[in-house]
Amino acid sequence: MARTDPHSYFDPDQPRTAALKIAWNVDFESRRVSGRVTLILAGPSQGPMDLDTRDLTIRSVTAGGEPVPHELGEPDAVLGRRLRLHLPPGTRNVALEYETSPDATALQWLGPEQTAGKVHPFMFSQCQPHHARALAPLQDSPGARVPYQAEVTVPEDLTAVMSAGSSGVQPGPGPRSRTFLFDMPQPIPTYLIALAVGNLASRDLSPRTRIWAEPETVEKAAWEFAGIEDMIVTAEALFGPYEWDRYDMLVLPPAFPYGGMENPRLTFLTPTLLAGDRSLVNVVVHELSHSWTGNLVTNATVNDFWLNEGFTVWAERRVLEALHGPERAAMSWAIGKVGLDDAFSRFGPSSPFTRLKTDLWGVDPDSMYSEVPYEKGARFVALMEQTAGRESWDRFVRAYIARFRFTSITSEQFLAFLDEAMPGLSAKVGAQEWIYSEGMPANCPVFRSAALESLKALSAGWSSGQRPSEGVRANWSPDETLIYLQGLPRPLPGTDCAWLDQTFGLTGRGNYEILVEWLTIAASSGYEPAFARLGEVLSHVGRMKYLRPLYKALGATPKTRALARDIYAVARPSYHPLSRMVAEEAMASYAAG
Ligand code: BES
Ligand code: ZN
Repeated sequence: MARTDPHSYFDPDQPRTAALKIAWNVDFESRRVSGRVTLILAGPSQGPMDLDTRDLTIRSVTAGGEPVPHELGEPDAVLGRRLRLHLPPGTRNVALEYETSPDATALQWLGPEQTAGKVHPFMFSQCQPHHARALAPLQDSPGARVPYQAEVTVPEDLTAVMSAGSSGVQPGPGPRSRTFLFDMPQPIPTYLIALAVGNLASRDLSPRTRIWAEPETVEKAAWEFAGIEDMIVTAEALFGPYEWDRYDMLVLPPAFPYGGMENPRLTFLTPTLLAGDRSLVNVVVHELSHSWTGNLVTNATVNDFWLNEGFTVWAERRVLEALHGPERAAMSWAIGKVGLDDAFSRFGPSSPFTRLKTDLWGVDPDSMYSEVPYEKGARFVALMEQTAGRESWDRFVRAYIARFRFTSITSEQFLAFLDEAMPGLSAKVGAQEWIYSEGMPANCPVFRSAALESLKALSAGWSSGQRPSEGVRANWSPDETLIYLQGLPRPLPGTDCAWLDQTFGLTGRGNYEILVEWLTIAASSGYEPAFARLGEVLSHVGRMKYLRPLYKALGATPKTRALARDIYAVARPSYHPLSRMVAEEAMASYAAG
């Protein structure tokens, strides 16, 4: 009996699931998914088998039609409830009938007013890191990989999409319903099971890529992400063949709490990426890169999350560099550094949460989400690349992916393979310190570019009256404008805010990175002309990356704190549970008053 995952009751010594068969009915009225999950076991099995659940109502558990004895444990705030099955000898399949709770942490149910079309409801799942158990009873650990097949019944005017291949659609069992069929033949970690249902349209972008979105946004999305095939071809040249057949994308309504989620064959994306100038496609490149680092080679548990995200941020910047040149990649590294510095000041430089390998037993992984595994992890990978030399590092990365494809590994397995394939590199870069120690090692790579240095100098000169001339700023890319804004002091006097807004047209920006950076300046400066736009963003957009700094910046004065509380009171019912947590955390940090 050895649990190995701090966030799952999965026990590798117990019977294993070899495949999942899912039959779901999605009911928008009760906001429940009900149905049956059949666990196909790896071989004839018997004895205890522990599953993860959260807020599920279990109706029955059977094997070959006979009831299987089972009991639900006490609820745990982080883990949910253990469901222990007692399998009779020779059990090959277990069928569980159940339904989800309307408050399932894996799901968000949107009313029509939260969609672009305003007519139909919408629902989507977000299972990473440990929420698949709120959608289905299963061994919910990345170490327990499974292929799955699903039949999903939804109202006939809506479309269901999943992180799987489509095997068709048929009339549903009841009136005015349709059943969509799916097949994911490759074994995936359960956090990559994904479902969305809504009024969806699609456009083909290449023979193997398609964009899904509400009809109102699909054209804009198709234009924004038209470059996807080039990105895939570039990534394949770097990391090896794309192994998942199709690469489709789904643009969700703005309540989606993340920027992107790498659900296999169907990346989920926030509509805040639709800037109108393709300036935010790096998020797509990031999610695409997870097709190798994360989805093929997966972290064994959240303690090794840097293997997913650090490698992927590094991979993302290599693809960007290949497509757009080293300057664009350098900008990405610079923007990432700002996030990393923020995370370090949030935790303190000697916090255990600044380690790459974390120890999250008893810790809710959602509450520990930060830039550390992303940006510190990516810098560690970049250091290994620089030290080994690009050519041999790239060869290593392809060998690493080929060696561990379709498996879930620990940092220690990575290190062992590194020693085997690249003897001496680990000691040369100080891999032990990078992975196991707090803070940033002294040999952290620094990314320089002339353009970057002059932008930083320019924002640093703000207080002494320096301003970019029209000729200079006319040539700035969106990334450059963002870096400039990030470097500005705050709070700023109203006249300075007015100058910025007028000069850069900030309040009307379609690029949310720039818009939100501006709104944090405006919020912390109490600049009222921007408050209407601020209220609009906070009440429609659920992306945590934006909610956190905006609610924080509103802590500036008693007046802005009151504004934050008023906005939140109205917006709360429409927020994802995770978005609520982020907003409440930010407001809890306001000084009393
Ligand atoms: N896999 C993550 C999102 C995630 C992480 C969801 C942990 C739940 C738990 C995804 O790949 C991601 O990192 N998205 C980023 C964008 C990226 C460019 C850094 C985001 O959502 O902002
Ligand atoms: Zn990621």
